[in-house]
Amino acid sequence: MDKIRIIGGTRLSGKIPISGAKNAALPLMAASLLTDGKLALSNVPYLADIVTMANLLAQHGVDISFSAPAKNIGRTMSLSAGNIHNLTAPYELVRTMRASVLVLGPLLARFGAAKVSLPGGCAIGTRPIDLHLKALEQMGAHIELAEGYIHAHTHGKLQGAEITFEKVSVGATENILMAASLAEGITIIHNAAREPEVCDLAYCLVEMGAQIEGIGTDTIRITGVDELHGCDYSVVPDRIEAGSFAAAVAITGGDCELVGARMEHMQSVAEKFADAGVEMIETENGIRVIADKKIQCIDIITQPYPGFPTDMQAQMMALLCVADGASMITETIFENRYMHVPELMRMGAKVITHGSSAMIRGTDELNGAEVMATDLRASLSLVIAALAAKGETVIHRVYHLDRGYERLEEKLSACGANIERISERTAASFKIPEAA
Ligand code: EPZ
Repeated sequence: MDKIRIIGGTRLSGKIPISGAKNAALPLMAASLLTDGKLALSNVPYLADIVTMANLLAQHGVDISFSAPAKNIGRTMSLSAGNIHNLTAPYELVRTMRASVLVLGPLLARFGAAKVSLPGGCAIGTRPIDLHLKALEQMGAHIELAEGYIHAHTHGKLQGAEITFEKVSVGATENILMAASLAEGITIIHNAAREPEVCDLAYCLVEMGAQIEGIGTDTIRITGVDELHGCDYSVVPDRIEAGSFAAAVAITGGDCELVGARMEHMQSVAEKFADAGVEMIETENGIRVIADKKIQCIDIITQPYPGFPTDMQAQMMALLCVADGASMITETIFENRYMHVPELMRMGAKVITHGSSAMIRGTDELNGAEVMATDLRASLSLVIAALAAKGETVIHRVYHLDRGYERLEEKLSACGANIERISERTAASFKIPEAA
């Protein structure tokens, strides 16, 4: 398994290109199942999860081509689901990526049946999918759980329904958006997720011919249509990657431009950086991050969008490890999202957790160490801490990091970071479909 070695202490400066958002690209790829037309996506990041989703769709029968990488711009991917011959999403693929459950809504809506493995748990929480299933049953789906699989079918088309999610769920909102686009009648979703990645899916569905109102609000109204067609669509820039790099720049006292980042998607994050003494200034091409002051302690509570994103919690914790004073973080979305804490403590961080809260006492003494990545965003918190730590840090199990960050070492070393990947085998750690 690959490792990443970082020698801390260099100040980051320069430009960091921000890739397309993983959490937008995944549902957009699943949306290809809704039509026999060609869906052409651009600004697609090259990540392990994207490849997993491509392999999952390919085994359903989706014809996929993925362009060769062009310097510093996203790849294009075309997907055509004119020849779907398999309605099963198998355990061996679903267990590696929970977002596989996003094929459930489209398969049911277009083919009236689907057999999808239950995703199982993950490092950050049990992450049930009860809200997805309950909403689909309200739309007329018959759902049975057996042998670790979801067996779903409809008699005729899915029916529009009025659905109220008892808690905000990105994935459940996305599954129902896709299912309702081809259902009979009108579906209204109350307490819908409003994340930019959910909006990206809705805008793409509209481009494909769907009738959707209330995008970006917590009440979305979808009028089902008989069929959808293909379209060209560009994936929204990744606000979490941008926030992650902002924390990396901040902990080194650096000054970098995040090229492609969109301030309108990062208001709550920018406010917290400002409170911590880090300036985020909108530029013509993105956002400039300037950290020329001592980091100040702050308090953070994670919330659904537009609140502070849970996917930025670990990264901000790493930054606050060097703040002046004590900070408090409360994680309200997932029940086990502090797996990075013991690893940060190996580097000298002073963090105590109690249930969903963490207290971080700032220190000037972060020291390099051997540490282990436990999940995607935790791996970035270790990179961020390592950039400021004295000496060498080696991060193990970076396959977690490869799931969500494209060309991380390249982007950081281009801004002066002393970072390298130690590959323990030459072959790429994930197989890609044939390039175009
Ligand atoms: C999406 O996961 C993201 N993944 C996650 O990003 C992100 O952390 C999360 O949304 C919250 O913003 C993708 O988009 C691929 P949820 P999702 O349904 O859809 C509970 C990353 O690091 N819940 O909004 O699975 C759930 O347990 C990943 O990129 C139910 O109880 O998240 C959680 O507590 C990590 N029942 C809360 O809701 C359900 O049926 C929010 O989950 C569904 C969810």
